[in-house]
Amino acid sequence: PDHPGHGPLAFTPIDPVGAEVDLLTVPNGYQWTPILRWGDPLFANSPAFDPSRPNARAQQLQFGYNNDYLDILVDPRGRTGLLCCNHEYTNRNIMFPPTATAEQEAEVLKALMAAHGFSVVELERRATKQPWRYVRGGRRNRRFTANTPFRLTGPAAGSKLVTTAADPSGRTALGTFGNCSGGTTPWGTILSGEENFNGYFVADPAARGSKRYGLTNTPSVYGWEQVDPRFDATKPGYANEPHRFGYIVEIDPYDPSSTPRKHTAMGRFKHEGANIRVDNDGTVAAYMGDDERFDYLYKFVAKRKHRPGKSAEARRHNLQLLTEGDLYVARFSGTQRPDGANLGRGVWLPLVLDGRSQVPGMSVEEVLVFTREAADAVKATPMDRCEDVQPHPKSGKVYVACTNNTQRGTAGKPGADAANPRPTSTQPAGSTNKDGHVIEITEHRNRAGATTFSWNILLLCGDPTDEKVRTYFAGWDGPVAPISCPDNLAFDSVGNLWVATDGAPSTIEKADGLFKVPLEGRQRGHVQQFLAVPIDAETCGPVVHDTDDSVFVAVQHPGEDGSWAEQRSYFPDFVPAGHRPGKGAWRGPRPTVVQVTRQRRSR
Ligand code: FEO
Ligand code: CA
Ligand code: CA
Ligand code: CA
Repeated sequence: PDHPGHGPLAFTPIDPVGAEVDLLTVPNGYQWTPILRWGDPLFANSPAFDPSRPNARAQQLQFGYNNDYLDILVDPRGRTGLLCCNHEYTNRNIMFPPTATAEQEAEVLKALMAAHGFSVVELERRATKQPWRYVRGGRRNRRFTANTPFRLTGPAAGSKLVTTAADPSGRTALGTFGNCSGGTTPWGTILSGEENFNGYFVADPAARGSKRYGLTNTPSVYGWEQVDPRFDATKPGYANEPHRFGYIVEIDPYDPSSTPRKHTAMGRFKHEGANIRVDNDGTVAAYMGDDERFDYLYKFVAKRKHRPGKSAEARRHNLQLLTEGDLYVARFSGTQRPDGANLGRGVWLPLVLDGRSQVPGMSVEEVLVFTREAADAVKATPMDRCEDVQPHPKSGKVYVACTNNTQRGTAGKPGADAANPRPTSTQPAGSTNKDGHVIEITEHRNRAGATTFSWNILLLCGDPTDEKVRTYFAGWDGPVAPISCPDNLAFDSVGNLWVATDGAPSTIEKADGLFKVPLEGRQRGHVQQFLAVPIDAETCGPVVHDTDDSVFVAVQHPGEDGSWAEQRSYFPDFVPAGHRPGKGAWRGPRPTVVQVTRQRRSR
């Protein structure tokens, strides 16, 4: 049938797709269309996309590269909206041709800086359930890049740990990059996590924090120090430049003149993202992961309560919520039960309370700039790479995607513990947690501000037909889609969890994809695959507007293992090798935000 199943977004699951397939696969009865591709012009004066001639000014006026966090904010009447997404990093090898001169090289580096950051773009459509189109020149369209001024807020703003020669006030940091996942706040702003910021800097390995944050004095991955001295922190006046990255940033997409901010009160680490829960008494908690092997899970609780309503005054108040509050890190305990339900307890260990450091020997500013050191000191639980950490909009339970840990249980590294239960003793020697897992947390009395919690394992991911790996699907014992490396989480309107993956090609040898997981009732744990992304890509976003029969994903880094001369992907425009493209057609992949909608009936 053209329209399988019943109800909004009913679908017949797709079969797993091979890792080398250069296609986006969606269920029968659905279609996919690109909304925005790398290089699409956003403004009236944007030059046309032409990667054969890298140009920083052009890129700054075009859609950026490698989208990770995504949200689609629909305006009240349903026909217009805003697409908000970040541009995490770049794949220079496939984006631009090799350079011959120093001038060309400098222009490429500046173009790559402009391809990072964040985009806000207006959308329009003819009717609900119809595909969206972006609006070139939309009034609220905006690009943020590696050079956009951001205001630092919170206790570490203005401290001597964040001042530089160019910014002696320590209050204005230029740019955002490495922005991985994020979250949309109930007051209509976007939070985005500055994750792998260390790769952008050269730094003194003996400087405080360098080792713990992975900063080294070798040439940076991105090479920006060749065109902007602030990326070389060994240069006089720039020692603190790396201290101005690794924060949660907050962007107001509804106010094109607003200054974006970095919230020091939420700590500095490799922030994956942040997701907000507002309790019914107005308490505001933000859940946050540090995505590094053996790093930690955090919670921020705002000092002030959320003010409901749509008034300008309420919004002004809520825009200040993340500038002040308490910061906690998680310690898990519990014993593993033979049935795999693995019920345990946990405590939120305070790092900052009422504006005061709770870590002996560290000031508040030090705790917020060297947060990993503070969490080490209180003996938080080293986790298997926390990615999205997302409270359920109805139940308040918190879902933690631990994407994998290829060092868990290896020589000299921690072995399995209750909350990171693989490798198990029955797995072959040398096993790790290659497939990742998802933890389900219930706060004490279900309060957002609780300082203790209980938890259980929801999913131990993997291919259930692989007898060498113990998998678990919340007790569901029917067939499931193989799933590996959970990364981004979302919920639909009826409360199902949706999981996007990043890494399945190298573990279960399948394309990454998007999966639906019911959390309640008899179907709890029944993992079903909705889509699969093209070769080398990870699935990001995702956004599930089930009542609109629409799903949105950011297809990140398609074909990233190719080169300018030998591309591996032609997504989304598919001009295959050997085919003569039309004049100006691009022969390579473009990271793209895609929407999946119901196929319209023909005949
Ligand atoms: Fe950018 Fe944690 O993935
Ligand atoms: Ca991620
Ligand atoms: Ca998410
Ligand atoms: Ca990822």
